[in-house]
Amino acid sequence: MRAGHPVQILDRHKLQDQPTNEAEVEVFSVPSYACQRRTTLENRNTVLTDALSLLAENAELSAEEGRGVAFRRAAAVLKVLPEPVTDMTQLRGLPCLGEHSLRVIKDILENGASSEVESTKQSERFKALKVLTGVFGVGAKTADRWIREGIHDLQQLKDSRQTLNRAQRAGLEHYDDINQPVSKAEADAIGEIVEEAVASVLPGAQVTLIGGFRRGKLTGHDVDFLITHPEEGREVGLMPKIVSWLESQGFLLYQKTTRNSYLESDDGPARPCSNMDRFERCFSVFKLAEDEKRRAGQTQSHYASAEDGGLKPWRAVRVDLVVSPISQFAFALLGWTGSKLFERELRRWAGHEKTMSLSSHALYDGTQRTYLRATSEEEIFAHLGLDYIPPSERNA
Ligand code: CTP
Ligand code: MN
Ligand code: MN
Repeated sequence: MRAGHPVQILDRHKLQDQPTNEAEVEVFSVPSYACQRRTTLENRNTVLTDALSLLAENAELSAEEGRGVAFRRAAAVLKVLPEPVTDMTQLRGLPCLGEHSLRVIKDILENGASSEVESTKQSERFKALKVLTGVFGVGAKTADRWIREGIHDLQQLKDSRQTLNRAQRAGLEHYDDINQPVSKAEADAIGEIVEEAVASVLPGAQVTLIGGFRRGKLTGHDVDFLITHPEEGREVGLMPKIVSWLESQGFLLYQKTTRNSYLESDDGPARPCSNMDRFERCFSVFKLAEDEKRRAGQTQSHYASAEDGGLKPWRAVRVDLVVSPISQFAFALLGWTGSKLFERELRRWAGHEKTMSLSSHALYDGTQRTYLRATSEEEIFAHLGLDYIPPSERNA
């Protein structure tokens, strides 16, 4: 490019294929579905998986879901390797590593960084998409529209005369808090509040921590809870009562509750592939007070306040609540524990390998034309012909 014309090809222009001693290179063997693998939080290849995850995120934010999934699958394969990858030959025979992902990995192994990843990180569009979708209630579509209207950051969003919905107004107001990771200690403090709410409105109802924290993650972007009652039917109408209690105690900065709309007769065999689950659920923003954490036996200095850089005695935390009838509890537990890729792979395995359809409500066997019951996650894995993978090993 500097010469401005094609130059004579010299040796130094050619990729230097290091002669490697094949016998010394460790070659790994990995099953192709993430739900067949044990993925702990220990990851020996974070440089590579961070790079692929960033490209996945960029694809997802650009409405290229297929590419996003391909990068996620590739990253997930690298997450289970017992050693850091140092040589491309180690990747021979591994599943889910497409041409594009291999190119990115090669770039990093040879040059220390991937030019595509670096240029994506620097791109104004990616930066704007990240900032705008960081506002709770703003998805990729809305962010894209705003960018086309010249809005690239929060100040421009505030200055514009965009009408924001209730979720987005809360998201903007509590932007810094919501974008700060939630610690396990904070998740536990929220757990105590939810336990108290549930015990007050329906004694005997049970609260289970789900999502990333159930998988053993030390931080999360939110806290997720599944609520049920051992007697079928007692959970009906529970969510509005929980929400009212929380609201009356001043714990909620925002909430939106959606009603349960799942009926086996309507949603079952006729439409077995719907991934969207339809439990009663509540997307909320909690106000977690400093003294609530202290009550839960934790100590921490005051939270930094966004506005004046000073200290405020509380922070905003995203919390998801889901209510399920006990008959669907195992499916809801499995469906809401994640990771998102693990869930996706479970459904793909069920459909492609077993002619079954798995959702957070039920497992339908298309060959036997019948629902398969389960009261535990172990039973669901068994129905699917998979080894049981505990939550801590579902971090695909
Ligand atoms: N989930 C879902 N439907 C939604 C949102 C989430 O079924 N509308 C499921 C996801 O598939 C995932 C689980 O709920 O299995 C938790 O989702 P989320 O909180 O987004 O992710 P976490 O794995 O908990 O990650 P983080 O720690 O960042 O919150
Ligand atoms: Mn979560
Ligand atoms: Mn969640």
